[in-house]
Amino acid sequence: MKKHKRIFVLLLAVMMMLSMYSIAGAAVEDTGFADVEASAWYAQDVQYCRDNGLMNGTDAAVFSPNATMSRAMLATVLYRIAGSPDVTGTDTFLDTENNQWYSDAILWASQRDIVGGYDDGRFGPDDPVLREQIAALLWRYAGRPTPEASIDFADEAEISLWAQDAVDWARVNGYINGDEANRFQPINQATRAEVSAILARYDRALQDEEEQTPEPTPQGNATLIAYFSATGNTERIARQLEGVLDADLYEITPEIPYTSADLDYSNSGCRANQEQNDPTARPAIAGGVQDMRDYDVMFLGYPIWWGQAPKIISTFLERYDFAGKTIVPFCTSGSSGIGSSADNLHGLAADADWLDGQRFSGTASTDEVTAWVDRLNLPIQTETAA
Ligand SMILES: Cc1cc2nc3c(=O)[nH]c(=O)nc-3n(C[C@H](O)[C@H](O)[C@H](O)COP(=O)(O)O)c2cc1C
Repeated sequence: MKKHKRIFVLLLAVMMMLSMYSIAGAAVEDTGFADVEASAWYAQDVQYCRDNGLMNGTDAAVFSPNATMSRAMLATVLYRIAGSPDVTGTDTFLDTENNQWYSDAILWASQRDIVGGYDDGRFGPDDPVLREQIAALLWRYAGRPTPEASIDFADEAEISLWAQDAVDWARVNGYINGDEANRFQPINQATRAEVSAILARYDRALQDEEEQTPEPTPQGNATLIAYFSATGNTERIARQLEGVLDADLYEITPEIPYTSADLDYSNSGCRANQEQNDPTARPAIAGGVQDMRDYDVMFLGYPIWWGQAPKIISTFLERYDFAGKTIVPFCTSGSSGIGSSADNLHGLAADADWLDGQRFSGTASTDEVTAWVDRLNLPIQTETAA
């Protein structure tokens, strides 16, 4: 009897081992790439990236898992995650060319402020992407969310300042981890296998989030008031709007604040004048909207600078996807009307539904603002109606 029991337990153990093997084996049977073994730690991630169109092989049946990932490759992958939207124009980098496999992706990523070039004007498409750059690109693509916690890596001091929020965010969300000695190794190059793992984690999290996000209902559309204000007038109107609408308020804050000398428009060389005269000027923005997908209607406020919206508004519009959203422009000025300033922004968010804009004086009353909102007749919640 005892002997039978032992044989039975042994058989059971063998069966369990076999079934475990087949479960592990079932995860990845054939990766489709001759150089990605089914048992490799990254096999599932490579397969995920290929099945979801995020990464292709370097050749039909070759993935090159140990090759480094270039900056152009990473821009292309993010562009694919974004659904490869149409782009117009050409980028300003000295070392990129038109009609290359990476051209649309780099143009799109630079217009959305996801990638920047080097100080010497190059993009470095073939340069290997560094770990802190991967974190920064993903984070910028995600809309520069504020990290939920600050992580102290053993090599924290080696992480570039511009990448620190991105690295914290990537680590908190488990997209990029440190090594066993708690080092982030910010300037290490990443292999294509490592990048596939990072991207697969990020894309899976995005899909989960999308599945959990209920479809927006036509009633109670969420509203954002985004504004830039150099001297406080537009901010005053934006705050009045916030009191009238059931909306979130977001200030478009320049990375380098404008000093009064920057705004001295009587000096033709002042920063504001230079920017307004330069069609390619895109002043950088500090921080970002937590998740633009939350909003269906956006009020967009700015001061009139030489008859137009300040160039930082272009930076802002190029950064997000406004397809299907309604944008309601408003501005403040010394005396000019809104003129062509709003119409000239339409091309930067061509898939949005743009309503006519409204100009206010810097001292407009709440009654004026309320009357304007009522006239708009938007399907949005107001404070009084909520
Ligand atoms: C560089 C610059 C250019 C300006 N150009 C105009 C203009 O063309 N027409 C106008 O009426 N006011 C102009 N103004 C005045 C601002 O539009 C006005 O003061 C506005 O309310 C400022 O808003 P803010 O306090 O939100 O920055 C200009 C101001 C600056 C700094």
